[in-house]
Amino acid sequence: MKNPFRWLAVVLVVSACGVALAQTTPAPVAPASEVLPAAPAPAPTAPVPAMPTTPTATAAGTASAPAPAGPDDVVLPPPRQEGGKPLLQALRERKSEREFSPEPLPLQQLSDLLWAAAGISRPESGKRTIPSAKNWQMVEVVAILPDGAYLYDAKANLLRNLAKDDLRPLAGKQGFVASAPLTLVYVSDPLKLPIEVPEEDRTLYAAVETGCITQNVYLFCASEGLATVVRASVDRPVLAMALHLPLTHRITLVQTVGKRP
Ligand SMILES: Cc1cc2nc3c(=O)[nH]c(=O)nc-3n(C[C@H](O)[C@H](O)[C@H](O)COP(=O)(O)O)c2cc1C
Repeated sequence: MKNPFRWLAVVLVVSACGVALAQTTPAPVAPASEVLPAAPAPAPTAPVPAMPTTPTATAAGTASAPAPAGPDDVVLPPPRQEGGKPLLQALRERKSEREFSPEPLPLQQLSDLLWAAAGISRPESGKRTIPSAKNWQMVEVVAILPDGAYLYDAKANLLRNLAKDDLRPLAGKQGFVASAPLTLVYVSDPLKLPIEVPEEDRTLYAAVETGCITQNVYLFCASEGLATVVRASVDRPVLAMALHLPLTHRITLVQTVGKRP
């Protein structure tokens, strides 16, 4: 498992160099439209549990074994990879729903759902159920459950604990979100891509990878008779801080899932 603080350290050093340069070189005045919004939160001064990064799939076949489960992690049962409704029926039944039973999903169904979302379908290469530009696998799935938030580690087939609080009230602005049993948070890690990839391509690839995951979740839910809705209405900076995401990571979309009431 890579040290997530290594990237943070690189960013901080680069930022510090930028500040030093700015103090000696007069900066041109940028038009207001080019001024970036202020960072959502100051860098934490005390160590906090940080979202681990996973190796890219290109290296997944040769990467070392995943870290063992910690005391707050959840070991998932092996995902069911067969059965379900016929694809065309699931496509016909796919839809957004906004009413959810608060009843938790069984662990087996959660494992199946996460595998459908972004699980590893070809262990020999580490490739997943979704396509990915150059197989860089820049989007991770975080599950917000009533007892905490967890990073889905597809390779180890477990949920790695990121936070122990009930973060559901921070998972969206619509009323049903706080009581629905599960919201998936899609998080892109732009540092998974080589430095020469332009910013607009990073944004595009993250959006496309996220879209593929959301549709997999929609189809799984249609097959299982679950309700789901993908959402942009979420306060990303607030949720990112509660999840202790590195400052480099970005929340793309969130998706709530649960049984119908
Ligand atoms: C990028 C994106 C953002 C969305 N954001 C929200 C949202 O914040 N809240 C919501 O209730 N639905 C949201 N939706 C769901 C759409 O409202 C829904 O897909 C659309 O009305 C079509 O309905 P259908 O999914 O049942 O076909 C979003 C969908 C997409 C693709």
